[in-house]
Amino acid sequence: MSGCLVCGNNIEPFMSFGQMPLANGFLPEERFSGEYFYELSVAFCPNCTMVQLVRQPAAGKMFHDEYAFFSGTSAAMAVHFERFASRVISKFPASDDPFVVEIGCNDGIMLRHFADAGIRHLGIEPSENVARAANAKGVRTISRFFGEDLARDIVREHGRADAFLGANVMCHIAGINSVIRGIKTLLKPDGIAMFEDPYLGDVIEKTSYDQIYDEHVFLFSLSSVQYAFAQHGMELIDIEPQTTHGGSMRYLIAHKGARNVSGRVAAQLKTEDEMGLNRAETFDAFRKRCEESRDALKTLLSRLKGEGRRIVGYAATSKSTTILNYCDIDSSLLEFISDTTPIKQGKFSPGMHIPVRPYRDFVSNYPDYALLLAWNHSEEIMAKEELFRDAGGKWIVFVPRVRVIE
Ligand code: TYD
Ligand code: ZN
Repeated sequence: MSGCLVCGNNIEPFMSFGQMPLANGFLPEERFSGEYFYELSVAFCPNCTMVQLVRQPAAGKMFHDEYAFFSGTSAAMAVHFERFASRVISKFPASDDPFVVEIGCNDGIMLRHFADAGIRHLGIEPSENVARAANAKGVRTISRFFGEDLARDIVREHGRADAFLGANVMCHIAGINSVIRGIKTLLKPDGIAMFEDPYLGDVIEKTSYDQIYDEHVFLFSLSSVQYAFAQHGMELIDIEPQTTHGGSMRYLIAHKGARNVSGRVAAQLKTEDEMGLNRAETFDAFRKRCEESRDALKTLLSRLKGEGRRIVGYAATSKSTTILNYCDIDSSLLEFISDTTPIKQGKFSPGMHIPVRPYRDFVSNYPDYALLLAWNHSEEIMAKEELFRDAGGKWIVFVPRVRVIE
């Protein structure tokens, strides 16, 4: 039994994925023996409805000077963040000199649009290597963890902010109450917070359990986000569903009473109720579907391998760490994982120690099957890989169910 990170209520895990390494812990062979593992288990809080990890590795273990995730690797995501930036600019109150703060700004994929437009901005990125990449692009970035203390420092130095932004970062922070207090401190009275993260509704609907890993301490829904912010006198005023990361939700938050609440909020809360996102039994059914999905994937890969087929993983994503470890897929099934990120190449996947090789190794000798570990980019990838299909290559996908795309 432990305490809910949002409301303190007692919570019990509804599912354990077993011992897991760090999702982004790509490692060289000499580090295999000291590899870090923890038990990945997930709970639903019956009081505030937040779905959350029961324990999480220390933040410093995940976000550090060798952090392997750089946002700027997908063309579609670059377009997505350009659009996100325009949405923010459209929401600005009539302020002469707007100021925008983004946490987890990564390599500046979104903030650079504000920098280019001459808008005052500040990026906060705890992984120093990534923060350096942002600064090198002219995006003003500091390397700290965001909370109430940092918010006060920012207000002292720059004044209050018109917008607080976060993409795929709010759900990473176990100390969510401190972050929300920080947002409250940071925002002007008519300021707006806009953040987006993978949406619980999509995870449940698609059985995309690979969204559950160390960095994703929360799987947000409207009801849980609304509760978390209401505790601090802030209000969920609107939502904007997104297709990124296999289905995300963008939440718009303001000081309570400062802005009108869109009818979309009540409508989506009703949908969540219909989906059972606020009820424990939904998560028991989800666990069973995860187990079925795991068994189906393992059986399929073993059968193909038994038939002498070559199978390669496509994209060494963070979320693939959950899939590969939970399904017990190692290099006897996957020859290697192809990935375009230089820092991952030549290393091995966390836990299962499958070699990560440069993309050219995929192209120069197509396998019979490619396991699509970046299924969230499937449109972009399928379009790019027509030659693989033409050469007789087949895709294996596992979301929303395990199947071979013939
Ligand atoms: P993403 O889904 O953003 O990963 P995560 O689960 O970590 O959030 O995918 C990014 C990773 O996928 C990154 O390691 C680069 C790799 N990738 C490729 O190798 N080829 C591609 O065509 C794409 C789109 C991604
Ligand atoms: Zn709770």
